[in-house]
Order: sequence, then C-alpha cells, then structure tokens
Amino acid sequence: MKIKNLIIFGTRPEAIKMAPLVKEFKNNADFETKVCVTAQHREMLDQVLSFFDIEPDYDLNLMKPNQNLYSLTADIITEMKSVLDDFQPDFIYVHGDTTTTMAASIAGFYSGAKVCHVEAGLRTHNKRSPFPEEINRQVTGRIADYHFAPTEQSKSNLISESVAEKDILVTGNTVIDALLDSSERVTKIENDEIESLKNIVDTNKRLILVTGHRRENHGQGFINICEALKEIAVVNSDVQIIYPVHLNPNVKGPVYEILSGIDNIKLIDPLAYPAFVWLMTQSYMIITDSGGVQEEAPSLGKPVLVMRDTTERPEAVDAGTVILVGTNKNKIVSEAQNLLTDTQRYQMMSALHNPYGDGKACQRIVQFIKQNSNI
Ligand code: UD1
Ligand code: UDP
Repeated sequence: MKIKNLIIFGTRPEAIKMAPLVKEFKNNADFETKVCVTAQHREMLDQVLSFFDIEPDYDLNLMKPNQNLYSLTADIITEMKSVLDDFQPDFIYVHGDTTTTMAASIAGFYSGAKVCHVEAGLRTHNKRSPFPEEINRQVTGRIADYHFAPTEQSKSNLISESVAEKDILVTGNTVIDALLDSSERVTKIENDEIESLKNIVDTNKRLILVTGHRRENHGQGFINICEALKEIAVVNSDVQIIYPVHLNPNVKGPVYEILSGIDNIKLIDPLAYPAFVWLMTQSYMIITDSGGVQEEAPSLGKPVLVMRDTTERPEAVDAGTVILVGTNKNKIVSEAQNLLTDTQRYQMMSALHNPYGDGKACQRIVQFIKQNSNI
C-alpha cells in the first residue's frame, strides 16, 4: 500500500520552497502525494503553480482583500477538515512560518496524520519580530512529529526546545533545490517576462533590486524604507532601483505614494519566479526584508541589506553575505552608499558562499520519510 502524503501551502514563498518536494515525492512510486493550497495568496501563488506546473488537488481559495489574521486562521482550520477527511493522509507537510503553516499543522494534528515541518527550527526568540511568524513556527514546532531543519543552527534551536534528535533531519533549505532547478530552466525556456524586463533594465546603471512586505514594517517602517530608497536614487544618478511591489495594500499604498515619478526608480508588479531570479542575477545589490531572498542571494553572489531588526537566519550574517539595517532611513542609506563606493567591501560580500544548502534537501526528506514509515 502506498504512503499517503498531503503537501499543504498557501503563499508565494511556501509554494516556491515546496515545489521541489512535490516533484520529488510525485516521482517516487512508494507514495501517493496530493497538494492542497489554502490560497492565502492568490495571484502570487498562481504565478508559482504555473511555473512549476503544479495542479493542486484541493484549492481552498481563501484569500480576501486586506485579510486579517483572526479570520484567516479560523478559515484554514475549518476548511482543512473536509480535505483531511476526504484524503486521510498518513503524513502532512507544512513549510516555514505563515498562518497557513500554523493553522494547517493544527488541522493535521487533529486528523491524526503525522505532521512534518519543512524549514523547521528558525528562531529569533522575539515573539513580536517577525510578527506573527515567530509564534507560527514555534507552534508548528510543538506540533510537528518530524522536523526538517535547513542548518545545524536551526537543529540546535530545536534540541534546546527538547525536540528528540531522532526526529530532526538537517537537510539544507529546499529554496536552493528550487533555485538551482529554476536557474537552469530559465536559460532553456523562452520567457516573455524576462524579455520585457530587458526593456526596463538600464544596463548603463548599477541595479538595486528591492522587495519588502513584513507586517512589523507596515506603517512608519515602510515610510522610512521608501524615504531611504528615494534618497539613494536621487544621490546616485548611476543607479537604477527596480522594485516589484508586493500586492498587500499596506505595502502598495506607501510605496506608490512616495516613490512614483522618480526617474531612476521603477515600480513593477510582483514577478513570476524565473523573472525574479533573472533580475537577481542582473543586480548589483539587493535591499529586502524577505526571508527567501536572503537565502537565494548568496548563491548568486549578491550582497543583501536586510530591512529588519532581528533575524532567524544568522548563518548569512555570519557568512558576511547580508547586513541587517532595520528600517532606519539613515542606516539604510549609509550602508547602501558604502556598498556603492567601497569596492573591496563589495567584493568581499559578493564572494560566493551559500550556507543554506546544496540543492538536495528534498531527496533527503523523501529518504527520511521512507525510513520512518512503518505503514
Ligand atoms: C504572508 C505571510 C508572511 C510571508 C508572506 C510572503 C502570514 C501572516 N504572512 O504575508 O509570513 O512572508 O506572505 O509574501 O502568514 N494579496 C493579494 N494577492 C496576492 C497576495 C496578497 O492581493 O497574491 C494582498 C491581499 O489583499 C491580502 C494581503 O495582500 O489580503 C495580505 O496577504 P497575507 O498573506 O495575509 O499577508 P502577507 O503580507 O502577504
Ligand atoms: N519572489 C518572486 N517574485 C517577486 C519577488 C520575490 O518570485 O517579485 C520570490 C523570491 O525569489 C523568493 C520568494 O519570492 O523565493 C520570497 O517571497 P517573499 O519575500 O514574499 O516571502 P518571504 O521569503 O519573506 O517569506
């Protein structure tokens, strides 16, 4: 009898990081693997599903405009019941730290399935930063039966919370599996989005790529970020800033209000994954509050300024590939100026070294589940 897997995700980054696991399980005849999307994100999720050719078996279609955490959490738990009743999986897989992750792991636990947490053990130990992600992943960590930790550091966080060592596997981050697969595919396929980006990128200027969305940065944080970007653009006429703006209205609002109409700043819609990867390769540096982008950039040799005060990804800071700048305008501007002018520092930061994995995380997860299934 085949082992029944249900892989559950809802947002863009979860989809990117779970896509290679879907592929790895579907290619293995010992498993019957189905995909359930909560669609906590809609358009940004669909971009990923389409690139990775994933057709969900269950689509809860839950996203609402400017949704709140209370109703989203309740909706996910409630709607997961019929999916779990219908498929009766042996294992469910959740990823990272979103509301989908936390709520789906609670639902999976209620169903009696074994709960597997991919990208387990990241911690800031500050429950308000990132908000609500730190608590989402801690709750998921309490529930999970198996923990797939991307690094030794994330494993040791779990050990210090008394998780049994036998239930933890250090795998590397599945984002590297996705990145390696995609950067290879991007060179082989015709991609209209990349072709039209070529008309936007000014090859005479150094490109700064920007993304941002964190809830704890909403409000004054985003105003500071935008003021900093404006100053960087005005002071450096040899720089072009391209910013694919997250669809959250709390982000889109201030970004378009403060940054529209500046010659060397281009505000664009979120890009599909291959186009975003291509744009990263074209950039001089990246300014972001994204978790995933911090993990990808070192593979591409791009220095990153991280607009956060805390990090659950100390490996990149230790490796010297990222610098935490928070949302302080002066700090963002001065660190950016530094990288634009200090060539030696720039070269040191862009030296290729990725602490997050070798692209074989999903193979390791599948092997582990085979060894731990006495079904
Ligand atoms: C969510 C996750 C965050 C993750 C991020 C990745 C939570 C609480 N937050 O934050 O951990 O890092 O995704 O991007 O789980 N929207 C659209 N279309 C989309 C996506 C979003 O219109 O495809 C708009 C909607 O108005 C939606 C709003 O953005 O209500 C917020 O979406 P939500 O998933 O609640 O929060 P994010 O900030 O995207
Ligand atoms: N990304 C993308 N298109 C974009 C911006 C980002 O495909 O326009 C990808 C990026 O390569 C990374 C992921 O989305 O893999 C990060 O998502 P996000 O920043 O929304 O979430 P986080 O990683 O912070 O949870």
